[in-house]
Amino acid sequence: MGEESKKQLIEEINLLRQQKNAIILAHYYQPDEIQDIADFVGDSLQLAQQAANTKADVIVFCGVHFMAESASILSPEKIVLLPEPGAGCPLADMINAEELREEKRKHPGAKVVCYVNSSAEVKAESDICCTSSNAEKVVASLEGQDILFVPDGNLGKYVAAKTKRKIISWPGFCPTHHRVSKEDVLQSRELHPDAKVLVHPECREEVWQEADYVGSTSGIIKYAENSSAKKFIIGTECGILHQLRKRCPDKEFYLIAKQMMCPNMKKNSLQKVRDSLLTLSPCITVAQEVREKAIAALEKMLTV
Ligand code: 13P
Repeated sequence: MGEESKKQLIEEINLLRQQKNAIILAHYYQPDEIQDIADFVGDSLQLAQQAANTKADVIVFCGVHFMAESASILSPEKIVLLPEPGAGCPLADMINAEELREEKRKHPGAKVVCYVNSSAEVKAESDICCTSSNAEKVVASLEGQDILFVPDGNLGKYVAAKTKRKIISWPGFCPTHHRVSKEDVLQSRELHPDAKVLVHPECREEVWQEADYVGSTSGIIKYAENSSAKKFIIGTECGILHQLRKRCPDKEFYLIAKQMMCPNMKKNSLQKVRDSLLTLSPCITVAQEVREKAIAALEKMLTV
């Protein structure tokens, strides 16, 4: 896209966002130009908080389907738009409501902690949601109870190690993070011996065991901002590099492995944001009976 048409698209988006009283929320994994036009860029928890509290009439959710769905559950009176309706999350698709019900029958009495990367139907079957930035706190809030953690097995294992709790984890995974290996960490360290290794807890145990810091996308950014180190190896999706380089222009960032890209997050574009504002579609809604159950798990998370 030429600079001129990009400028024009941004002008149209700015006008439409004003006319429709819309807020544009973007995850750190979104394309750079989307992050740059967003009213707010954040991690999953911060975006859910924004969606729950905004005074806007329209939320343009620049992220993937489960994020827009959570926004709609939390703010049902608002129009929630997902500019690219095909932006899914393979991790969220790794468990459905029936599979969860079956798992609950195997572990009666266990509390279900559900990572927000899940469908509304799965949230509706869960006791409480969590994101990677509050998972430890959420689990700690459920004192003395057995825990069934869905759908991310890597995060479940990480939280079990941190909280020293017995957690039964569903074996789901994010293909982008699961791809990283211990070898990738060792090779990156060899290439950049004075760099700190910062990884997302969706990475495998053999990876987070080797890291200097494990945390959510906002945790990784905060760590890099506050650290006296100058070089960092980043173990999460490549979109985060845009924020890291913007906020820490004097520091150097290297991706931990080659294919750290979420294809779904990259389906969005300025044209799609403009078109969704223009047509107020594609609009994400959640059936009333599912929403009523799912909201309890999401709201419980927001109070922890
Ligand atoms: P954060 O909550 O850390 O932003 O993670 C979102 C996500 O989907 C990671 O793959």
